[in-house]
Amino acid sequence: MGKITVSTLDKMKAAGEKFVCITAYDATFARLVSEAGAETILVGDSLGNVIQGQGSTIPVKIEHMAYHTECVARAQPDSLIIADMPFMSYGTPEDTMSNAAQLMQAGAQMVKVEGGVWLSDSISMLVERGIPVCAHLGLTPQSVNVFGGYRVQGRTPKSAKSILADAVEIQDAGASLLVLECVPTHLATDISEKLDIPVIGIGAGPGTDAQVLVMHDLLGLSEHTPRFVKNFMENQASIQDALRAFVAAVKSGDYPREEHSYA
Ligand code: KIV
Ligand code: NA
Repeated sequence: MGKITVSTLDKMKAAGEKFVCITAYDATFARLVSEAGAETILVGDSLGNVIQGQGSTIPVKIEHMAYHTECVARAQPDSLIIADMPFMSYGTPEDTMSNAAQLMQAGAQMVKVEGGVWLSDSISMLVERGIPVCAHLGLTPQSVNVFGGYRVQGRTPKSAKSILADAVEIQDAGASLLVLECVPTHLATDISEKLDIPVIGIGAGPGTDAQVLVMHDLLGLSEHTPRFVKNFMENQASIQDALRAFVAAVKSGDYPREEHSYA
C-alpha cells in the first residue's frame, strides 16, 4: 500500500473512502495489520487490558507505551503508527511534551490523547513542536471513574452539544485525527460531516470516516465484548484472513451495522 501519512488519510476522507485502524502491540501483529491493508495501527493503552490483564487502562505507564511502540515500529509497517499517551502522562504541558517526545522517539508517528477543550493548548504546543495529534472523545476509558462505568456518551442534547464543541475545538487547535468512542450514530455522523479532519469511530456507527477495533476483540479472543464488536475470525481460516475480512468489511460499508451501533 506504500507508506501512509496524514495527507493520505485527508485525501481518503475527501474522496469518501473509508480507512481502517487496528490495534497492535508487537512487531509480528504490526506486520500482519500492515499486510492486511489497514492504513493505521494504534498502539493503544488497551494493552493494559489485553496484554497486562489490568481491569482498566489507568495502570498503564509511559514506559509500557514506549516499549510496545518500539516493538511495533521495528516491523516498519506501511500503516501510520499512532501511540496512546497513557493516564496522567499529559496532565500538564511539561509532562505532555516530554512524554509525547518519548513515544515519538520510540517510533510513533502520531500521539493520541483523551479529551477536548481542556487539551487545546497542549495540542497546539505538540503540533508546533512537530508532533501530530489524534484526539479521543466520547467514552474515554481513562475517565471511567468520572463516568461511573463504561457508558455510551452524548445521549442527551446537552452532552451531544458538548462533544461536538470539543471536536471543533481540537480541530482548531491543530489535531490531525479524532477517535469517537461509544456515541450515538447520528452524533458521530454529524461530527464527521462537520469536521475537515478524519474521524475514526468505535461503537459510533457507520457514518464516520474510518473504524478502529482492538485486535483481540475482532479476533474473538476477549471475554466480555461490547455491542459494537464483531468476531471476524468466524468463517476464516487464519488470523491474516480475519484481519483482511475486517479491512474489507469497513471499506465496503458492511461493518458496522445497526446491530453494532447505538441509536
Ligand atoms: O486503547 C485503545 O485501543 C483505544 C481504541 C479502542 C480507540 O483507544
Ligand atoms: Na486507548
